[in-house]
Amino acid sequence: MADLTRIAVDLERFGYPDGTVALAGIRLSVQRGEFCGILGANGSGKTTLLKIMDGLIKDYTGTVTLDGEDVRRLHPREIYRKVGLVFQSPDEQLFAHSVGEDVAFGPRNMGFGEQEVAQRVEAALAQVEMAEYAAKSIHALSYGQKKRVCIAGLLAMGHEILLLDEPTAGLDPMGEYRMMELLLKLNQEDGVTIVMATHSVDLVPLFLHRLHILSRGRLVRGGTPEEVFTAPAEMAEVKLRLPHIAELIHQLKDEERLPFRRLPLTIGEARREIVEMLRDTEKKA
Ligand SMILES: Nc1ncnc2c1ncn2[C@@H]1O[C@H](COP(=O)(O)OP(=O)(O)O)[C@@H](O)[C@H]1O
Ligand SMILES: [Mg+2]
Repeated sequence: MADLTRIAVDLERFGYPDGTVALAGIRLSVQRGEFCGILGANGSGKTTLLKIMDGLIKDYTGTVTLDGEDVRRLHPREIYRKVGLVFQSPDEQLFAHSVGEDVAFGPRNMGFGEQEVAQRVEAALAQVEMAEYAAKSIHALSYGQKKRVCIAGLLAMGHEILLLDEPTAGLDPMGEYRMMELLLKLNQEDGVTIVMATHSVDLVPLFLHRLHILSRGRLVRGGTPEEVFTAPAEMAEVKLRLPHIAELIHQLKDEERLPFRRLPLTIGEARREIVEMLRDTEKKA
């Protein structure tokens, strides 16, 4: 069977120069085609972990591989051909005057001819639904549009793996949802492998295949959203909560003794569970 692992992290320890141990004992892998999340409260180590995966931080103990090769031995160019990191703040990433110029920077730097660059810019902007903004000034964009331009900049370089640091932070609820839909489309239709850091528990179960929960620099749990979101107390321990809908059903089950069989994570699942429970109760009556 073909090896589907793209990134494998086996990290013993990483500390910042001021002595903060940001990460310890992290083992996880990212499979080809996966859309997975690194979920954790502020300061849990998400950004640090993404920077390690992208080869930006190197002075850790342990090993991180990209397609089986030690990331620390790869030339930055070899990493950037495959992996791109989208920073949390678009203002850290964008620097050109116009949208088109910014997206062109990466492919131009990779040595592509102007015609190829133009094609890549056009295709990448279309992928993030910003095709008509090529000539627009970066400063005139909304925060959400800036985030999309950052993603386009990486797609234009042909990245197969995107690491995104809190892609929905700072967006309004509709913007959050649209960003997640965009990422889902890139994953499902364009085959981009996606790792996103987030603390947003409500959106996660709707979109992500797999979750890794970080707490104080340690990986405390991993699995599908159903496996990971188990009980409010366990989530509170890691300074997170359950999705609102799961919290409600948990309270109905635990405190009102309503016979729910499982903990639904989305409105759709909750609706089915409630209907089933009511039917069961009617049959028994
Ligand atoms: N440049 C730095 N120097 C020292 N400590 C840092 C630095 N960046 C982050 N940290 C610390 O490392 C820990 C993890 O931070 P970070 O990876 O940014 O977490 P998250 O992205 O989950 O909020 C925190 O305790 C944070 O204060
Ligand atoms: Mg962070």
